[in-house]
Amino acid sequence: MGSTATTTTADLASLRARLAEIGQDHVLNFIDRLDDARRGALLTQIAAIDLAGLPKLVDEYVKKKPGFVLAPDLAPAPFYAHDHRAEGGWDRATYKKAGEALIGAGKVAAFVVAGGQGSRLGYEGPKGCFPGGAVSKKPLFAIFAEGLLATERRYGKAIPWYIMTSPLNHEATVAFFKDHHFFGLRPQDVMFFSQGVMPSLDIRDGRMLMASTSEIATNPDGHGGSLKALAVSGALADMKKRGVEHLSYFQVDNPLVRVVDPVFIGLHAAAADSSGEMSSKMIPKAYPEEKLGVFCMANKKLDVIEYSDLPADLSKERGTDGRLKFLAGSIAIHVIGVSFIEKLNHDPAFSLPYHRAEKKIACVDPATGEAIAPASNNGVKLERFVFDALAFARKPIVYETDRLEEFAPIKNATGVDSVESCAQLQTARAAKWLEAAGVKIARKADGTPDCVLELSPLTALEPVDLVGKHLPKQIEAGARLAL
Ligand code: UD1
Repeated sequence: MGSTATTTTADLASLRARLAEIGQDHVLNFIDRLDDARRGALLTQIAAIDLAGLPKLVDEYVKKKPGFVLAPDLAPAPFYAHDHRAEGGWDRATYKKAGEALIGAGKVAAFVVAGGQGSRLGYEGPKGCFPGGAVSKKPLFAIFAEGLLATERRYGKAIPWYIMTSPLNHEATVAFFKDHHFFGLRPQDVMFFSQGVMPSLDIRDGRMLMASTSEIATNPDGHGGSLKALAVSGALADMKKRGVEHLSYFQVDNPLVRVVDPVFIGLHAAAADSSGEMSSKMIPKAYPEEKLGVFCMANKKLDVIEYSDLPADLSKERGTDGRLKFLAGSIAIHVIGVSFIEKLNHDPAFSLPYHRAEKKIACVDPATGEAIAPASNNGVKLERFVFDALAFARKPIVYETDRLEEFAPIKNATGVDSVESCAQLQTARAAKWLEAAGVKIARKADGTPDCVLELSPLTALEPVDLVGKHLPKQIEAGARLAL
């Protein structure tokens, strides 16, 4: 943590000297020309930066590029197979009951990380406000809220929802919920808090980039920043007050997520080989190059290796059953124990590594104050990833889920993981569930549904919920239907 904001001339001189020592005094180049408000804001911003730790970060992540080191004992991670009746099977019903008991006792909360910038999608607002419903064009936040409402109704218990924003989208996110009357949830059960930021660094020398003459350019500190932000924001204390023991963690980009999944929660909390600290969901990768992190065992610990780091020959290797050897793709859904988060925050040795990303960052020339619109990557963004906490968990487990049931992220404007592919997947899942309930669905020659469908979580959280519901007998070709 940095010092508090500097106000006097003497303080300013000493801050300038302190910054000069680490080659960062350019951030004060314009301070004498700023009005009081801007000057105060800049000094507050500087005070929040860990100046003592900065030279090491510049050295490790900007001047050098940390290379990925393949663990000598790297192996695929074991997982609970989706088909619980297969060899080495497990008792799904027992774990479902255990999860349901925890939800019914108010010991489970939902947690969405929604602080990211969503730049790939080219959407201006917070990503959770994006119209994700295939037919209704409902915002992603509304779909998650419906999932929570349906779960609350089923188990007769309030499910608090923690929403992590970033300084870039906090106010817009809160305003969006207010404008939409919290999508029917009780405002006192929805808590927003902002994650931390990191200064964005000049790719050439690690100097902090200036967004303007009075502001250092910053970026959200990654979803890994959530583990600290949960504590400093008071969210953790709130959970303890409410008796919440487990957090159902998900990303803001996936409208098919089961926001609170009793089977997964039950496995996490009650399986003999789980410590209840941190558990993860996976889907089998569809093809070697698929852009999913992969669950591996490395140095005897569970780890997620990003797709860009897993060597191509390993990603293509297949087992005797013909399946990819490194199969377990991360869909970024976890259950995290509240006491685990608390333990990490009290452990002075706990620190997640940073990951470096090179970006084009709009900034001003620190000498002249003139705006620079970079044509190529000019900055380094440092982020922490939540799955790196798996290495700190005793006995973390991985649970396989069905891709079609739970994974349709919206990441890009077009192509893979886009608005269009997400609508197709929402349709495919709805068609599967509706057909199982006896509805006839028009399909194209290639077998895909010849319509666009969307099922609200309020209508069905799982296929069995459609049984006995008033449903159309048939859905015609070309139909667009939200149920
Ligand atoms: C992520 C995972 C990848 C996984 C894939 C599944 C990383 C690095 N990779 O990829 O392993 O297979 O999802 O869909 O996470 N966020 C914040 N604050 C931040 C940064 C991100 O809250 O500072 C949130 C975003 O709002 C979003 C989520 O984290 O909800 C994922 O971020 P994103 O950068 O989009 O990850 P991906 O590269 O898509």
